[in-house]
Amino acid sequence: MKDLKEELSPFLFGKTVDNIGFINRTTDVELLWLNMRSGINTILMSPRRWGKSSLVKHIAHLKRNDKNIRFCFLDMFSVRDEAGFYEALSKSLLVSTSSKWEDWVKNAKTFFKRAIPKLSMGIDPAHDFSISFEWEEVEKHKDEILNMPERIAQKQKIQLIVCIDEFQNIHNFNDAENFEKLLRSYWQHHKHVSYCLYGSKRTLMADIFNKKNRAFYRFGDIIQLEKIDTNHWVPFIVEQFKKTGKKITPALAKDIVILMKNHSYYVQQLSHYVWAYTTKEAHDYIIEKALVRMLQVNQAFYQYEVENLSNTQVNLIKAIVDGVEQFTAMKTLQEYHIGTPRNVTKNIKTLEKHDFVEKIDKKVILLDPAFELWFKRFYMGKRW
Ligand SMILES: Nc1ncnc2c1ncn2[C@@H]1O[C@H](COP(=O)(O)OP(=O)(O)OP(=O)(O)O)[C@@H](O)[C@H]1O
Ligand SMILES: [Mg+2]
Repeated sequence: MKDLKEELSPFLFGKTVDNIGFINRTTDVELLWLNMRSGINTILMSPRRWGKSSLVKHIAHLKRNDKNIRFCFLDMFSVRDEAGFYEALSKSLLVSTSSKWEDWVKNAKTFFKRAIPKLSMGIDPAHDFSISFEWEEVEKHKDEILNMPERIAQKQKIQLIVCIDEFQNIHNFNDAENFEKLLRSYWQHHKHVSYCLYGSKRTLMADIFNKKNRAFYRFGDIIQLEKIDTNHWVPFIVEQFKKTGKKITPALAKDIVILMKNHSYYVQQLSHYVWAYTTKEAHDYIIEKALVRMLQVNQAFYQYEVENLSNTQVNLIKAIVDGVEQFTAMKTLQEYHIGTPRNVTKNIKTLEKHDFVEKIDKKVILLDPAFELWFKRFYMGKRW
């Protein structure tokens, strides 16, 4: 029997990359790090899976030995309401101030004077630790929890960097706008804390930070992440192959990047499949095979997305994929069955809201390059 190969894929997707495999973003790192250490709050924006979470984790990794700085990570992915937010914030603050769980208990006693939390720990506290409050208690002492980052930072003489991922989830809370006002009223006075807020739902994030009537309007600097340039991707891919005893030419590596339109997640995913199908040296037919495989893997997700669209929205996507620019021209309306000009405008807005498309200089483009290829090939039956 042939032995199973043991080498590991040098490409990573679906997880944040903070150290090995993190490429470039030197300008973003500089800008964000300047804000963080200077106490300037930052909102990070980009379409899905371009690398917001990885960028923040990468900076925390670079600064892991800086005694004057501490990072506190809070992921609001599963935070459903205000009570959950206080618990998640308190837990992240405790965990970030010490790596020893014995200290969490000790610190909880010193940090919380009025809103007393209940701590519970499993056999392995590092992975099984939770914190809860009686809501009546929290309601009376919200200020204590919301001011805790600043109190900890002052006490420990550090700059505390509170990084909140999936921040747009705040939008699902009851009375969200009042809660935003409350947060801002406390956080804007914090001098030793920098807040870095980011999330995967771009339109919701933009609503929170760009609308004049919202509490977080002008809360901080806004950094719009760009895509990673081909000049950085190509040598990275070539090197990752080389390190694992395989070979890919810069020209083929560039094909991968161009097919995936420099989209961080998909460049890594397609590179992974090309690498996996390559025994010694990559060829163009391997890229084709890897691409089909990758689209098949993502197919269920794409199908689900399409099932949730109306017929006119699907037809509009067909027109976008075909490179149509004048959607409201009579010929286009008839050829693609996309309704009236009003329908078109409304549908573009809806597709934008759901992160399907983006308008750049009046041109509408699809945000997901792999979905675009899948749609073209498997939905419209065309070649790419
Ligand atoms: N600087 C980078 N270098 C190499 N690969 C990267 C980089 N940034 C991101 N990636 C790749 O892109 C994937 C998505 O990154 P990440 O989860 O950080 O994006 P995100 O913008 O936070 O996504 P979401 O919008 O879904 O929250 C990672 O799993 C990794 O494969
Ligand atoms: Mg993210």
